[in-house]
Parts: sequence; structure tokens; C-alpha cells
Amino acid sequence: RGTFDILPEEQKYWERIITIVNQILTAYGFLAIDTPIFENALLFMRGTGPFTDVVQKEMYTFRTRGGDYLALRPEFTPSIVRAYIEHGMKSWPQPVKLYSIGPVFRHEKPQAGRYRQFHQFNLEIIGEGGALNDVLLIQLVFLILKKLGIKGFNLQVNSIGCSQCRPDYRKILIDYYRKQRKKLCRHCRERLRLNPLRLLDCKEEKCRQLANNAPQVIDYLCEECHGHFKEVLESLDELDIPYILNSHLVRGLDYYTKTVFEFRLEGQNPIELAGGGRYDGLIEILGGKSTPAAGIAGGIERVISVLKSQDIKVSQESLPRIFLVQLGELSRRRSLKLFEELRNKGLKIAEALSKDSIKSQLKVADKLGV
Ligand code: HAM
Repeated sequence: RGTFDILPEEQKYWERIITIVNQILTAYGFLAIDTPIFENALLFMRGTGPFTDVVQKEMYTFRTRGGDYLALRPEFTPSIVRAYIEHGMKSWPQPVKLYSIGPVFRHEKPQAGRYRQFHQFNLEIIGEGGALNDVLLIQLVFLILKKLGIKGFNLQVNSIGCSQCRPDYRKILIDYYRKQRKKLCRHCRERLRLNPLRLLDCKEEKCRQLANNAPQVIDYLCEECHGHFKEVLESLDELDIPYILNSHLVRGLDYYTKTVFEFRLEGQNPIELAGGGRYDGLIEILGGKSTPAAGIAGGIERVISVLKSQDIKVSQESLPRIFLVQLGELSRRRSLKLFEELRNKGLKIAEALSKDSIKSQLKVADKLGV
């Protein structure tokens, strides 16, 4: 459950998305990187964060016969940071801009748009802390969604502060919620202990009402975080990228600092298409030197579901212009050679060499629209 085959007729959607991601990201100087699908489970426990749902409930972990404790990657970011540290990318010109496309695994309850093996396109900018990097990441995903022809999506942004200012806010938030503990849902009572910021994006109606009156993180940012966020918003204005300030946006992963963002499509069932943010503490957590970084990932299945629901045509492969019909054993053998000669000339051709009669071959040609 929660996995699926990508059938031949679906491939055009994948090709379209992957082509556009490749084109736009390479044009902006991003380098492709692929990392293993499984890694030491500790990488994600530390990196994604011990208090996240992803690590606590959703990670596929297993012990090998040799006794190694491994996990199927539930996201790219810790793997990319590991690669950055392991290959000494600190000595490359900074920032290092990397992107990946591939499967990730989370043991979630399967439902529409929520799978256990799904695919992300993932961008990271490591080695520079300026607000413009956050904006570039947002702009690139904005361009990808636009280029795909998706309509009606929005961008939500927030800042959740840094190691300087967040602890104070956290305390104020806990104080606020403790007084209302009885009104919280079961999950939120537990979150209050482990991960209080997540109370802000609980979907339960009673928790939402409490969140609406909760102290807002924006009022408690330190000077640096405040200035950083202001620069992000001003740059988005300059680029004419519309956004919604969402003080309840906290994201589900532990490593974020300062700016966080999500692209969503609202509607009866809101769809989160992409999400990310700055993570200035993660490289150090994973054993590197303190290094600022930011990134974002989009869900390919979700993008495809929107392409379909908005009836967006993805370019069909061009039809063959020539159909090679053969009759008899000798001509069938000759056909293989002829086929290759024509293909070599750049002509798009089709055949049905396994068929004998002209009638059945013409039927195939008809079906292919030659
Ligand atoms: P995330 O928000 O966990 O972020 O996932 C990114 C995107 O993956 C989501 O916006 C959604 O489109 C898609 N997605 C998540 N879970 C599922 C699922 N079960 N089925 C289908 N699609 C899903 C991250 O993974 C971060 N690593 C992003 C990032 C990169 N932050 C910094 N750098």
C-alpha cells in the first residue's frame, strides 16, 4: 500500500516535470547530485530530527545481517549535507547549489496525494546565509510551477527565528498553551512537551482557534532574524512573486531556522506542492563546521495530480511519420536494416515486424496515428 507503478501512459508527466526541473535549475547554476536511497538511520534521526513525525512514526528502518542499522531516506536534506561534509565541499566556491530528483520513503497512512514511496525534486544552497538565497529557492520553484502551467497556487512564508530568539518565543508559547491545556487535542498535549511550535499548525478545529490567539513568532524575532525576513519579503515584492504571511507556518522538520515557506493549492482538499526553509544549524549537527544553508523540495506525484485535475496537456511525443510494412520472410529481414537506416536519418518510424498480413500491419499503423 502507498506505492504504485508508473505505467507507460504516465511517463509523459514524469518526463515533462524532470525536463523542466533540469532546464531551470542548470540554467541557475545548480549541480545535480545523487545519493544512496538507504543510509545509516542515525543520519536522519539526528538530521531530520528526533522529535519529528517523520523520525518517530514514518521512517522505514531495518537492521542488516551484519548488524548495521539503516533507513530508507525519508527526505534528501540530511543526505545532501552528509555529502557536503564528506566530500569537503566547504572548499568549493560557496555557496554550493545542489539538486536531486528521486524517491523518498515515509510510512504514512496512504490516501490521495500521500504515498509511502513518493518522489521529490530537491534543491539545496549550502554555504551562504544571505536572504537572497531563500528568495532564489522560492523563485525557482515558482518558475517551475509556472512553466508547468499550474494555476492558482499560492506561496506562504513565515520566519521561525534562530537559536538566539526561538527559545524565548518557545517559552512564551508553552506558557500560553499550558493555561489552555485542557482544550487541546490529544496529539497537541504531547506536542506541547516535545515540539510546541507544531501546535500552531494542528488541523483540529479547537486547536486552530487557540492557535489564532497564540503569541506570534514574528513579534519575538531577534534583530538579525527580523532584518533577514524583511529582506526576503522585500525581494519577493521586487520579483513580483505574491505571498501570504502565515504566522502558523512552522513546517514538520526540526532543522529549520529563520525563513520557512510552502507552495500550496487551496481548495476543498488543500495540496502542499512544495516546502522548505533555511537550516543554519544542520551542518554542525551532522558534524561539519557551522555553515548556513537553505533548501526546498517539491512532491512530484502531487504536481502530476494537479496537472491532471487542471487538464494541462503535457506535450505528446511526436507521432511516427513512416510505417514500415513488410510482406514475406525476405522482406521482413530486409526491413530491420531499412528501419535502422531511416532511424539513423532522424526519421521517426514504426513497425509491426511480428505481424504477417498487410491488413494487420495497417491496423497497427492506424492505431499509432501514422
Ligand atoms: P517536506 O515538506 O517534508 O520537506 O516534503 C516536501 C514535499 O514532498 C511536500 O511539499 C509534498 O509535496 C511532498 N510530500 C511529502 N510527503 C509526501 C507523501 N507522503 N506523499 C506524496 N508527497 C509527499 C522536505 O522533505 C524537506 N527535505 C524540504 C527541504 C529541502 N528543506 C530544506 N531543503
